[in-house]
Amino acid sequence: MIYLCSQAELPEGACKGFKLGDEQLFVVHKQGQFFLYQNSCPHLGIALEWLPDQFLDMERSHIQCAMHGALFRIEDGFCISGPCFGDSLLALNLCQQDGNLYYVPA
Ligand code: FES
Repeated sequence: MIYLCSQAELPEGACKGFKLGDEQLFVVHKQGQFFLYQNSCPHLGIALEWLPDQFLDMERSHIQCAMHGALFRIEDGFCISGPCFGDSLLALNLCQQDGNLYYVPA
């Protein structure tokens, strides 16, 4: 398990990006649940965010790729709009323990 951050650092609706060596990940907190994805757009394989820790659209209802605007459901990473429609972000294993969040590599 790899420590990411404490849950307290991610209030409801917040996102946070992480760099672990060559790997980039991000966590989204929505309605009490935490979702961890690889930070790589299925369209071109580049990082999604336009500013550090900014992964959501204006309404904060979907994950958005800053490059061409693809929108992904927060709950499962499925792309509902954009050039990679029908593809999905790669979901990663997340573990919550003692108020902290950990990445569990497959
Ligand atoms: S690189 Fe993400 S939508 Fe094109």
